[in-house]
Amino acid sequence: MGITVLSLFDGISCGMVALERAGIEVDKYIAYEIEHNAIEISKKNYPEIVRGGDVTKEDFTKYKGKIDILIGGSPCQNLCSCGNRKGLEGEESRLFFDYVRALYETEAKWFLLENNATMTKENQDIITGIMGVEPIYINSNLLTAQERKRLYWTNIPDIKQPEDKGIFLRDIVQPREEKKEYECYKRMMAKEEGTLAHKKAWSQVKTLDQKSRALTTAQNISNSGATNIKYSDTEYYILTPLECERLQTLPDNYTEGVSNTQRYKAIGNGWTVDVIAHIFKYLKKAIEENIEPVKLKDHERPQQSYRRMVNTEEKKTEEKTINANEVIEMQEKEKYEKKIAELERELKEKDKEISKIRGEMQTLKDRVFNILLEKACG
Ligand SMILES: C[S@@+](CC[C@H](N)C(=O)[O-])C[C@H]1O[C@@H](n2cnc3c(N)ncnc32)[C@H](O)[C@@H]1O
Repeated sequence: MGITVLSLFDGISCGMVALERAGIEVDKYIAYEIEHNAIEISKKNYPEIVRGGDVTKEDFTKYKGKIDILIGGSPCQNLCSCGNRKGLEGEESRLFFDYVRALYETEAKWFLLENNATMTKENQDIITGIMGVEPIYINSNLLTAQERKRLYWTNIPDIKQPEDKGIFLRDIVQPREEKKEYECYKRMMAKEEGTLAHKKAWSQVKTLDQKSRALTTAQNISNSGATNIKYSDTEYYILTPLECERLQTLPDNYTEGVSNTQRYKAIGNGWTVDVIAHIFKYLKKAIEENIEPVKLKDHERPQQSYRRMVNTEEKKTEEKTINANEVIEMQEKEKYEKKIAELERELKEKDKEISKIRGEMQTLKDRVFNILLEKACG
């Protein structure tokens, strides 16, 4: 009998590939995702997956008691170093709270939450406080030729670091004959020396004996953090979608069927399958040995508290214990308070402008009055 999986922010279903690779039988895999191209890629590979849509619109209590594992990597745009650092209040990264809600609503036995390790310690601590477990840090570079530092919060027990497979770009790249349209040497040479673009392009170079930088969602855009691979002194190529799949240890051509831009985006957003499969091997063991999962404080409705530093009026910091629902409410409140403060500032500016115009009008009126008076008096 297989397991039932609920996957939020499912992307291209790397979770499903990883479960297969770990040898776990899946009875039902329910995926929540809103991005059309990602869904198309997933459908092509796994037509049997049950599709859900927007996580924010779902009441997950309908799955209560039916989910063996909840998996998901909530969006990291507002958390990671390449994002805008708005944190868990950010438009995208706040979706983490929907993952937490789903966990409480479903009472899933096992959980796995993934996110970017370049987030600040403060945000990491907030997530850890809510999840109730310390994250496990794994750099995908142990299992593939890509630097990718990630954090995994899970109640799957006893996970060890994977062994280093010693894979480098040389092991996964396509031969130069297949890469004509991916040549980037001319483009790099065209950048004027001394400019930021020039510096960036050359700092992104990796040799075949190195590992690629962490895949981004725009590998074909030169200033997006993409890797420029040096084949020889005059031969430099960007990564092909197929190479990106290999760097994420996906099956070759897994994302074929949509445009290259969409393939890069989907793969860059995805998981390194072998890292997740490594984690799932411990899940398999736990299931086979009938190990009872450590529950999130027995799923008491968000009593998972965490500490947040709050500025008091006296500018002293005070520690407060609040729960996940309160955080969401607080964030909404803060957002509106900021908006109100902004509007009040604008209003003050407008008031100033109005009184300035009034003053000018009065001066004009006085002048006209004086002219008329002079005329009247002859
Ligand atoms: C970091 S990616 C996760 C990719 C996934 N782990 C994979 O292996 O492909 C985050 C995903 O969340 C999706 N997403 C964003 N907002 C969502 C929402 N409200 N409901 C469901 N999915 C959402 C994005 O489209 C994106 O594919």
